[in-house]
Amino acid sequence: MRILAIETSCDETAAAIVEEVDGKIVVITNIIASQIRAHAASGGVVPELAARLHTENLPTVLNQATDNRRIIYDAVAVTVGPGLIGSLLIGVAAAKTIAQVENKPFFAINHLEGHIYSAWLEEDQPDLPALAVIVSGGHSELVLVGRHLRYQLLGATRDDAAGEAFDKVARLLGLTYPGGPALAELAKHGQATAFKLPISLDNKELEFSFSGLKGAMAHLVAGLPQPLAEHTRADLAASFQATVAQTINKKVIIALAQHPTVRSVILAGGVAANHHLRQTLEQTVHQQKRDGRFFVPEPILCTDNAAMIGAAAVYHHLYGRADNWRTVEANPNLSFN
Ligand code: KG4
Ligand code: ZN
Repeated sequence: MRILAIETSCDETAAAIVEEVDGKIVVITNIIASQIRAHAASGGVVPELAARLHTENLPTVLNQATDNRRIIYDAVAVTVGPGLIGSLLIGVAAAKTIAQVENKPFFAINHLEGHIYSAWLEEDQPDLPALAVIVSGGHSELVLVGRHLRYQLLGATRDDAAGEAFDKVARLLGLTYPGGPALAELAKHGQATAFKLPISLDNKELEFSFSGLKGAMAHLVAGLPQPLAEHTRADLAASFQATVAQTINKKVIIALAQHPTVRSVILAGGVAANHHLRQTLEQTVHQQKRDGRFFVPEPILCTDNAAMIGAAAVYHHLYGRADNWRTVEANPNLSFN
């Protein structure tokens, strides 16, 4: 089964073709048109602009993903939520049109499910049950994947998502949107132990909270001599990054203790592109479970893309879970539970 997948939930217009071959998922094309530059001036995603740019970019992205319609596919899959409603509608309308005009099976995919299945795009695939740690611009969630397509939400964030905290703190340090990668770059030159920052909800619960940390950073910065010295900015970035990683690591330790049958930990979502988080979480997993396995996709598959939506759709197909395009609607608040 070869699937054309479409992802337009936020500010990346993406389309991909993936194929299931002997249990592996092969990525044939994976096209991503980023709107980052268009949103950078406002310091964050402007929903109206995002939707308009999706309508402008999607035809080209679809042409590239299908090599100008030379690549044949059997089905179409699309992100139906969660995300920005205006953005989701563009992808969903396009996918429904393709399914109807070409009379092809249709798969409606949860964006977060896509992030989880990004781990199945790699050669080595996770064993189940798996603990998925989804950290992105909109979400910070711990999800237990007991069996394929069976999700149990163990905990989410009460306020800001991890990526949102990265973006806001980056702005505080004078970096441009999206701040995550820029902050990580700056942190390379700093000392992670320079500033002591609070770990929010440091308890046995599996919920996250990042707004306190963001507030602590704002307070800290306001008390320092301005303009900030270059080495101070780097120290702040490194200390913040280490605190976010420590917070996530602590919650994963608790989740693993509560769910001893877990065999794999999957790190996914845009913040999973963070090198420090990847390294520390891998160490934690190996320390906590001797035979535990750690999976994190290559960075381009961590941030939003359509190949991951195709990967999830492959499993929907394998488990006989096609959808009726006539009754499927975009749902900005779609959740696991
Ligand atoms: O998954 P994603 O592309 O979009 C959402 O579904 O939200 O995640 C985007 C988020 C942004 O907040 C961005 O700053 C963050 O991921 N991000 C990073 C890194 N690369 C992207 N955060 C920290 N370090 C990075 N290297
Ligand atoms: Zn995402």
